[in-house]
Amino acid sequence: SNAEQACEQSVESYNVKKNEYADLDWDNLGFGLTPTDYMYVMKCSNNGTFEQGQLNRYGNIELNPAAGVLNYGQGLYEGTKAYRKKDGNLILFRPDQNAMRMQFGAERMCMPSPSVDQFIDAVKQTVQANKCWVPPPGKGSLYIRPLLIGSGPILGLAPSPEYTFLVYASPVRNYFKEGSAPLNIYVEAEYDRASRGGAGGVKSITNYAPVLKALLRAKNRGFSDVLYLDSVNKKNLEEVSSCNIFIVKGNLISTPAAVGTILPGVTRRSIIEIARDLCYQVEERPIPVDELSEADEVFCTGTAVGVAPVGSITCQGKRMEYKTGAQTVCAQLYSTLVGIQTGHIEDKKGWIFEI
Ligand code: COI
Repeated sequence: SNAEQACEQSVESYNVKKNEYADLDWDNLGFGLTPTDYMYVMKCSNNGTFEQGQLNRYGNIELNPAAGVLNYGQGLYEGTKAYRKKDGNLILFRPDQNAMRMQFGAERMCMPSPSVDQFIDAVKQTVQANKCWVPPPGKGSLYIRPLLIGSGPILGLAPSPEYTFLVYASPVRNYFKEGSAPLNIYVEAEYDRASRGGAGGVKSITNYAPVLKALLRAKNRGFSDVLYLDSVNKKNLEEVSSCNIFIVKGNLISTPAAVGTILPGVTRRSIIEIARDLCYQVEERPIPVDELSEADEVFCTGTAVGVAPVGSITCQGKRMEYKTGAQTVCAQLYSTLVGIQTGHIEDKKGWIFEI
């Protein structure tokens, strides 16, 4: 009968809906690793070109103990996010920027890199294969982690004879345990993040383990993260271990120039552009640590972190506090960025890539 048919139809559409999402507590996502179903793998040997990659089931990978990445840290990583729009479509935010940054970093680390098209295609395939892990609209995003590693064996110090490009993904929401509450940052006096002529300006895996010591110490003291100063004079702001930093004073927004020791963040660049569109004056320049005591607002940017307000910075025992909340420049920039990233604000800049 017609009634039976209608009933069958609704059960069918219910099943489609049900399988649309993986079985996960979508309301309690943090930044922990939730393993998903597939990862993308593409290899490149001596001739320097990456061949056809493929999707494999997500899981452990096999590496020679003499792999360049394990012994000499020859590796880069990237981070980008996919969002689910209200209409169900999946979108990426500026994956071309990550692809280009990987190419730039690969040159610094003496590695071949996938082309921009290969990179974007791999990211799209990874999202498509794991689409049930992209959180519902408003509940977070699928964090995508492309890796480029020296996977071939090498004993003497030299570039690896083989490279692997791998993309995996995990659903995430807030990076910091503070959620969207303001961060409390500690200015690190003992350790440096990056040195002049080093690899601080590229997303080398070697930039991250050395910051753990100061990060854990700060967390033990109740801080969210650590702010580094330049290693030469210990005078100018550099970046936080997991994100870039901005300060606001009146209509002027400033951030350290992304030269050499500062990671050129995709969120950083996007916020600079959005702020200029909103008629703020934006300067990329050396920022003496003394300016922290005069700033109205401070905030951090990063793919994982998003745009995070900073409530306080502690420097040499002195705690400085900043304006936070809905009526801030930070909140205005954040809502514009998130609006574009989630498809709520029309993208007039070519930042959104449909999957
Ligand atoms: C990102 O924001 O994507 C990063 O790579 C930072 C990392 C420490 C999670």
